Amino acid sequence: MAAEAELSALLTESRRFPPPADFARDSNAQPEIYERAHLDRLKFWSEQASRLKWDEPWDQVLDWQAPFARWFVGGKLNASVNCVDRHVEAGNGERIAYHWIGEPEGETRDISYAQLKDMVCQAANALTELGVAKGDRVAIYMPMIPETVVAMLACARIGAPHTVVFAGFSADALRNRIIDCDARLVITADGGFRRGTATALKPAVDNAVAGLDGVRNVLVVRRTGQPVDWDDARDRWWHDVVAGQSTEHTAPAHDSEHPLYVMYTSGTTAKPKGILHTTGGYLTHVSATHRLVFDIKPESDVFWTAADIGWVTGHSYIVYGPLANGTTSVLYEGTPDAGGRDRWWRIVEEKQVSILYTAPTTIRTFMKWGEQFPGAHDLSSLRLLGSVGEPINPEAWIWYRKHIGGDRCPVVDTWWQTETGGIMITPLPGITATKPGSAMTAFPGISVDVLDNGGKPVDNGGGGVLVVTEPWPGMLRGIWGDDERYRQTYWSRFDELYFAGDGAKRDVDGDIWLLGRVDDVMNVSGHRISTTEVESALVSHPSVAEAAVVGATDAITGQGIVAFVTVKGDAALDSKAGEQLIADLREHVAEQIGKIARPRQILLTPELPKTRSGKIMRRLLRDVAEHRELGDVTTLADPTVVNMIDEMMATTTHPEE
Ligand code: WTA
Repeated sequence: MAAEAELSALLTESRRFPPPADFARDSNAQPEIYERAHLDRLKFWSEQASRLKWDEPWDQVLDWQAPFARWFVGGKLNASVNCVDRHVEAGNGERIAYHWIGEPEGETRDISYAQLKDMVCQAANALTELGVAKGDRVAIYMPMIPETVVAMLACARIGAPHTVVFAGFSADALRNRIIDCDARLVITADGGFRRGTATALKPAVDNAVAGLDGVRNVLVVRRTGQPVDWDDARDRWWHDVVAGQSTEHTAPAHDSEHPLYVMYTSGTTAKPKGILHTTGGYLTHVSATHRLVFDIKPESDVFWTAADIGWVTGHSYIVYGPLANGTTSVLYEGTPDAGGRDRWWRIVEEKQVSILYTAPTTIRTFMKWGEQFPGAHDLSSLRLLGSVGEPINPEAWIWYRKHIGGDRCPVVDTWWQTETGGIMITPLPGITATKPGSAMTAFPGISVDVLDNGGKPVDNGGGGVLVVTEPWPGMLRGIWGDDERYRQTYWSRFDELYFAGDGAKRDVDGDIWLLGRVDDVMNVSGHRISTTEVESALVSHPSVAEAAVVGATDAITGQGIVAFVTVKGDAALDSKAGEQLIADLREHVAEQIGKIARPRQILLTPELPKTRSGKIMRRLLRDVAEHRELGDVTTLADPTVVNMIDEMMATTTHPEE
């Protein structure tokens, strides 16, 4: 059979991969779990919560005053104790919490649970000495090093909500987040390593906090040793303040609903939303999903979420979920090709990784590089593979299973969001017969549906938008400082149903396939970026009159950012000046938001296609960007505009193509 025919035979919607016999027999989740959770959802979740260490029991599982939820009401616990002390007390202090692998070859650190506990206690004492009190916010802007986890857990320990800002964001983006949550301390590093060179972080923090009186200190980890500017009144070295502290720290018990962290994510407006997560419900959700979806056996597994701690995937499945379950994780600082395109596979082989969790973008990149890189290594330690962050195309799913999973490891495609806190729709590896490209069914105790525009559940075979129909423990408790926006964004489309912003379909068997965002949010390499945010960055440039941004399908990154820009004044730019402006604009967006938001392509056009009422027709621009036949143009004020742009597009190539 020709390769293509073979592939299409593999990819029919009903192609199923049954759970391997050993999973069916031994996995943490057995089939009755769905029925049990269905019969009594709240009982199911309280059983999951009972696996944690509570200082005081809850007296009510759920208090639901739509759209505001409180879980395990009245209960008290400490997230940091649950993540570290508890395992040491249980006699597992010698177990490795993290195999940390630096980007420079050969730089590794193994950190046991006992060591992690000492580090967290020292950091908690240091934060207290710096005057950080329960309820104060702490911003964290760090590379992927153990101190990042330590900083988060120290905050959780004393009850100071952290807000981790991905180190790829710019000084401006960091500043906006610091202001929005009114952080009093920023924890950072001099820099980090990226593709073999030391990159700087401290200068961005200096710019971000300039003139902000609310930020009383900046605590700096020395990672690269590069020179940094220093403000004696404000800046403190981590090794000066933390290292000398006592390794004892009595952790206070926090209310189950005490804020644990705020994570900013892009919405449909220019201003990112501070998604608030609290303690008891969140920890219950992430530990239960981690244990059951990944079938975690803490005594033997080596778990690797290859994501950045600066995103929710890192929070839930590098830090809180795995640590709550006493798991050994890999924490890798660098990019997949640092030190060679087989770097990951060397790590898997050396550390005997048994479970790998990553994003489709990365899988597609590995596909492009070729199977010889994983093929050169012994990957037989792997037993389970996960995918997250964007829809996974069936070809990538099959490649992942075959070339990484040796045709033996189940693949779990997990759908969730910053807002949901943890995994919501997923196969369970010992139960579900998986289909390449489908996230399959709701996790036990989670209720989702696919609705048509009128709010009616679609039949099997139908498509619509995804909703969550019952509150869940890891759900966001709100948007920091903006209850109205919380209601508007998630709860106004359908009455008392959570609107996720994703399109979905149910196949003939009722299984769920996620189809991408239905709003103005793009998904670029698994990163959520708002079209509006990029547009407002562009129009803040002095030369720009108007900008329209669309996410165009991209074979590797899922979507790529394409911007259509009109310039101020009527001076026609010659091609050299045009090229220079495009380069300036890409840099400008990187400065305003971060490198991840830099447009793949910018087209300077004399006009943008608009309706008679002056609304920019992004739908048509998306057709243009994807080189598709133009859709309906009859509502345009001037249909010639879009034809002209279409022609311009056809004659240019974008720089990364
Ligand atoms: C998308 C990342 C399809 C989706 C955990 C969602 C997915 C957004 C999947 C959340 C998946 C995430 N299949 N789409 N398995 N997982 N998404 O907040 O559009 O960074 O709304 O959380 O990513 O992105 P976020």
